[in-house]
Amino acid sequence: MSKILITSALPYINGVPHLGHMVGCLLPSDVYARYMRMMGNEVLYICGNDEHGTASEVGALKEGISVKEYCDKYHARHAQTYRDFNLSFDYFGRTSSEQNKEITYHIFSQLDKNGYIAEKTMKQIYSVDDKMFLADRYITGTCPYCGYEKARGDQCENCTKVLEPTDLINAKSTISGSTNLEVRETKHLFLNLPKIEPQLVEWLKTKEAFWPDVAFSIAKKWVKEGLQPRCITRDLKWGFTVNKEGYEDKVFYVWFDAPIGYIGITKQWSDEKPDERNWKEWWLDAKDVRYVEFMGKDNVPYHSITFPATMLGTGENWTKVDYLKGFSYLTFEGGKFSKSEHRGVFAEDAIKEFPADYWRYWLMANAPEGSDSSFTFESFVNTVNKDLNGVLGNFAQRVMKMTASKIGSFVPTGAELEAVDREMIKTIQSRADSYFKFMDDLEFRKAIAELRAIWVEGNNYISATEPWVVIKENQTRAETILRLCLNLVRIMAILTAPLMPQTAEKMLAKFGLSVKDMPSLKGFDVEKEIMFLPAGHTFETGDALFERITEEKMTELQQKYGGANG
Ligand code: 2FM
Ligand code: ZN
Repeated sequence: MSKILITSALPYINGVPHLGHMVGCLLPSDVYARYMRMMGNEVLYICGNDEHGTASEVGALKEGISVKEYCDKYHARHAQTYRDFNLSFDYFGRTSSEQNKEITYHIFSQLDKNGYIAEKTMKQIYSVDDKMFLADRYITGTCPYCGYEKARGDQCENCTKVLEPTDLINAKSTISGSTNLEVRETKHLFLNLPKIEPQLVEWLKTKEAFWPDVAFSIAKKWVKEGLQPRCITRDLKWGFTVNKEGYEDKVFYVWFDAPIGYIGITKQWSDEKPDERNWKEWWLDAKDVRYVEFMGKDNVPYHSITFPATMLGTGENWTKVDYLKGFSYLTFEGGKFSKSEHRGVFAEDAIKEFPADYWRYWLMANAPEGSDSSFTFESFVNTVNKDLNGVLGNFAQRVMKMTASKIGSFVPTGAELEAVDREMIKTIQSRADSYFKFMDDLEFRKAIAELRAIWVEGNNYISATEPWVVIKENQTRAETILRLCLNLVRIMAILTAPLMPQTAEKMLAKFGLSVKDMPSLKGFDVEKEIMFLPAGHTFETGDALFERITEEKMTELQQKYGGANG
């Protein structure tokens, strides 16, 4: 048994997640965590909300509540949504916790003690009316190059020129609209990346053979372009007050304490359940822990460069990433998800329309693993109707209904297997082995294609063996076929469980079984498992596993969520 530590990038507290967020790291990390547990490993799966930063302050201001109240409110909404999607975190915490503060302070002090923190005075825009320094993106004005009036302080969206806030004409604060802005000097702390670079490069070399190419090339590009010191403090109120003399009126930058949050959240959880697990066993001087991180592509530099450099600079033996899985983006009907423009399906609404497994399946089968992928209702409806309803659901329902009507609601006895049966078992075993291999390699789309092929194989087998015809002349042979098919339903449930846990539960319940009775996937032996349900074991056919989605419903959804015809 191995120890597998899994983290999913911590979603920003402001705003609610949409389908792109769900597939961008949350769902894949859950499928992987469930799979790894079923493989018999000891898994620790951690996530939580990333709470600090200007966005939370601005969000709270807009809603007229305190930042603390704002974060409590949205944390509850995030947590509920993830429960609804059956994400099996061991703990879903918050970066604002006392535990995270304690560890952030410790890590900062170590970096400072080891000489990796530099001080620098810089010029920044101060909004007199907002009484705060403004992050570049909270300043807008007219672009001096193209005249676009809504250019942001860091970049003009219209002509793409990279800007300094001081370049803008008629600059104003997007928080209050005030133009009463001043350039003020302010002192900040920097993580001296160039000084840590030699250690970082040595460490990166040990990862080249193991990380996916995309992640490694992003890290390599950053190093090649030359690492710059990174500012780790901000002139804000919401955040961890900096634990250094002369900086008490500043807070740590959100990207400094967010990844440390993985550790802080683990401690938060282990403090609540001290008898179960100790956070240090996973994070500090940990033995035999494999650490797998999931994130969107834009997060890769922070996880491959700044976070590891932070840990290396402490001179302590913190667990660092062994495998880093980055995802591209999901577009919605060819465009971007936008809450303000009411475009796209947000997770809270998605779950009101269909059960979680419908979304889990479509999203994972179409995960933006290599390049971006596009969500369309047409594709979603087709996939649910064809793959789920037509292939998996159809097989289970057909087998159970047929057995119940021709023989009875129990597993029939049958006789010896024939060549066609043995061939089917061989095919399923080989597909299952490929499925496991792709899951081990975190190639989710390929893994799901194998899983689907197993469902198809079940349908092919029953079509080829025709038990409904055979029964007229050879009852025993028909019984053998149906006995194998009923056992196949159970096998399909087990293999499907990491991806669609509720469906697996529903399938097993038809046989009076629970997910707790599932065997380990390690060394999964189809020949043995296909004999699991003995003759006489009863079942209840019950409802279909999935419901077909109609054309009318599809049109309704497109209109409601701003789809193709909406
Ligand atoms: O991009 C984001 O959504 C960030 N909140 C991810 C943070 S990941 C980790 F470092 F906390
Ligand atoms: Zn411009």
